[in-house]
Amino acid sequence: MFQSKFFIVYMVTANQLRKLYLDFHKSKGHSIIPSSPLVPKEDPTVLFNTAGMQPIIPYLTGLATHPAGNMLANSQKCIRTDDILEVGDNRHLTFFEMLGNWSIGAYFKKEIIEWSMEFLTSKDWLGLDSNRLFVTVYQGNGRDVDVDSEAAAYWQSEYTKLGMEALVGPDYSQSLEDTLKTNQNRVSRIRTMSGKDNWWGLPYKGPCGPCSEMYYLLPDQPIDFETSILPKLSVQERVQWIDDNIIEIGNNVFMQYIGEKDGDKEPVNLSDMPSKNIDTGLGFERFLTVINGYKTVYETDLFATTLATVEKYSKSSL
Ligand code: ALA
Repeated sequence: MFQSKFFIVYMVTANQLRKLYLDFHKSKGHSIIPSSPLVPKEDPTVLFNTAGMQPIIPYLTGLATHPAGNMLANSQKCIRTDDILEVGDNRHLTFFEMLGNWSIGAYFKKEIIEWSMEFLTSKDWLGLDSNRLFVTVYQGNGRDVDVDSEAAAYWQSEYTKLGMEALVGPDYSQSLEDTLKTNQNRVSRIRTMSGKDNWWGLPYKGPCGPCSEMYYLLPDQPIDFETSILPKLSVQERVQWIDDNIIEIGNNVFMQYIGEKDGDKEPVNLSDMPSKNIDTGLGFERFLTVINGYKTVYETDLFATTLATVEKYSKSSL
């Protein structure tokens, strides 16, 4: 990667990114475990592994003890079919790798938020621009789970260490006016979101919890977008702009319950798991795309050579 006067251009290859991620987690005490087969051997609930955590479920739920310990990391091959209709856009793939790390009762919110910030922004690791990093936390279900102010406070403390103000604001689809008013026209770096996006679990009753997603504002968009761009857009355009320009790069799930979701995608029927766990997942191809400043996953070195060869022999271009 190199830094010019105006912007940083990342040139991280797929192999470099995977290695950086695994080396970082090894340095924090995780055991690096191999990817499980794409077709799970002992899990009849799915045809394919859909998330990095799928093969880890027996350990997260306390049914078994993992031979490599209670801090694990890997790059897991996955096929996820629940968003298959999105495939063909600039960032959804059927087959993908998920970079993941897990704590089975070993560490929880404080450590994972500190480490997420360190991995993403420290010059020793990815060195991303923290001004472009946004996060979300769960807003609570109004019943038995409160707004995750603990996670918001840990993120605020991380931004403060970098000399930044991190204000909390509501989800843009709900009220931009409120968020601008609350924060006196200053950017809301931490947004509170509903269970649809910020409660993560499997599509059936199982391990779940509030989550905190990490987003990156594309390098060609202004950092003051909340005041310079969003007010000119309708609610629908605003949501679309956010979706197109602030891209999710990872998700920290605070996996401490067994439960399911109701019709509004909010958590119900919760009971505590034997331990408070962390399940972190980063979509490898999307992550690689965003940090390199590409517009689509097909520009990354995972696809570019193959596509260039197809273009050459078919005498056509994409
Ligand atoms: N299991 C979480 C996800 O897939 C990290 O988003």
